[in-house]
Amino acid sequence: MSLRPEQLRSHQWYGTDGLRSFSHRARTRQLGYLPEEHLGKPVIAVLNTWSDINPCHVHLRDRAQAVKRGVWQAGGFPLEFPVSTLSETFQKPTPMLYRNMLAMETEELLRSYPVDGAVLMGGCDKSTPALLMGAASADLPTVFVPAGPMLPGHWRNEVLGSGTDMWKYWDDKRAGLIGDCEMSELESGLARSPGTCMTMGTAATLMAAAEALGVTVPGASSVPAVDSGHDRMAAASGMRIVELVRQDLRLSRILTREAFEDAVTTVLGLGGSTNAVIHLIAMAGRAGVTLRLDDFDRIARTVPVLANVRPGGGPYLMEDFHFAGGLPGFLSRIRDLLHLDRPTVAHATLRQQLESAQVHNDDVIRPRDNPVAEEGGVAVLRGNLCPDGAVIKHVAADPNLLKHTGPAVVFPDYRTMQRTINDPALGITAGHVLVLQGAGPKGGPGMPEYGMLPIPDHLLKQGVRDMVRISDARMSGTSYGTCVLHIAPESYVGGPLALVRTGDLITLDVEARSLRLEVTDAELERRRSEWTPPPARYERGYGALYSEQVTQADTGCDFAFLARPGEVPDPYAG
Ligand code: FES
Ligand code: MG
Repeated sequence: MSLRPEQLRSHQWYGTDGLRSFSHRARTRQLGYLPEEHLGKPVIAVLNTWSDINPCHVHLRDRAQAVKRGVWQAGGFPLEFPVSTLSETFQKPTPMLYRNMLAMETEELLRSYPVDGAVLMGGCDKSTPALLMGAASADLPTVFVPAGPMLPGHWRNEVLGSGTDMWKYWDDKRAGLIGDCEMSELESGLARSPGTCMTMGTAATLMAAAEALGVTVPGASSVPAVDSGHDRMAAASGMRIVELVRQDLRLSRILTREAFEDAVTTVLGLGGSTNAVIHLIAMAGRAGVTLRLDDFDRIARTVPVLANVRPGGGPYLMEDFHFAGGLPGFLSRIRDLLHLDRPTVAHATLRQQLESAQVHNDDVIRPRDNPVAEEGGVAVLRGNLCPDGAVIKHVAADPNLLKHTGPAVVFPDYRTMQRTINDPALGITAGHVLVLQGAGPKGGPGMPEYGMLPIPDHLLKQGVRDMVRISDARMSGTSYGTCVLHIAPESYVGGPLALVRTGDLITLDVEARSLRLEVTDAELERRRSEWTPPPARYERGYGALYSEQVTQADTGCDFAFLARPGEVPDPYAG
């Protein structure tokens, strides 16, 4: 099937007899285009999250030209839309607060302008889910162009991973092992080029999830940001989207239940970021697919971790992963765990897409008989401390702590924790369980990545590098340690986490998938009756909307009014 020009959505804006169409054509002349350059052609919106403040996307300003080149070559008409940038490092309190804002912007731009198809450009953590959530709601033909990983870090004779090695060397500095001189050299070595974090952090995990969902051209998710191959991938994406519009292959045909199950399988087999749990649930929700925490735990038990990439595995980085075969190579090793008959933006079936996929380095992408870990990287916990669930990335934890009982040290919020954690009077030992409250979706607000609570200085100096830590926060995809995250419901809304007191015993048992507060139900009831809700975080503005609408971690932290099913009418353009 091939759409005729008058069947294009943009035809309502440009092609009818009325005054409006005349005005749209006149304004396109004002933009400097001849009628034959655009009339009757698929209009492709190139949504670009480039910004001077976002080092992970700074190359996308140029890269959009390659996308447009591809669109022109294939007979389409590209128009670039600058959209909100979500910079993981710079945006406070956390870009998670703004994921849903970019999702709204994406959806509404695609709906309100004369757009037949969309190319989405992003990759720094939340930008991938945000763009795809919005695009799923708009449901036009869509291709995602991943920003791609930055070059590997280098310092003296060491290869560094952004994020992961930052935490590690910061701990070394606090332990007195390195000084200011080394730190200033590290400052120039950790992140050496434009592009996303080059460990299997949130960015790499979500870009891989996008490829696994089938919304990128094959192999796109790990192409290094500054490789010439990134230009070629961008051009190929531009060519592809025009074809998708002609076929009217909308995102809803790609984003099926099978696709999301395969994306879950993928992120687990990559030993990917825990953030993917929240984002995939939210993206699935926009596509009308109910994905649950338990789907992650169920699938985790069937999929081994095969990506030997930091921080889950190690010692490799995303560039190694790319040249070892990238995501197609990885997926070819788990063919039997995937739904091979579903379509992608590039092929009629995933089976076809993986036909020529190969692995070129068995240490980077492990064979099934030599996995990095026997089971997927994430476990879902339940218990009286997390009735609606919690997650732990147990492959990045100290195995000795996966079954542990210890007394709680409770911090009511992040600032208090920062101020007091090194206070010797707290008497914190390696066996204690550090508990952070008030860091969830509403309480954080925005569920900041506070979940890897710092080890107190005096314990670091004794060589302690991991402890059981629990919170309703998230954790950076480049972090590691025995950190129980995403506790739902969060403490700010009165979840049981709010009732924990210093000295209470807490038992973590990952094998039993359990997290328990060893306090009687009667005592918890008594504490609950004394609990008063904290004051509102925002009196007005976007923060107030966020606090009112955001859902809990187990349902993806979307806005309730965006997540619910229902139609939005297409605007009348004539
Ligand atoms: Fe942008 Fe890590 S800070 S991907
Ligand atoms: Mg991150």
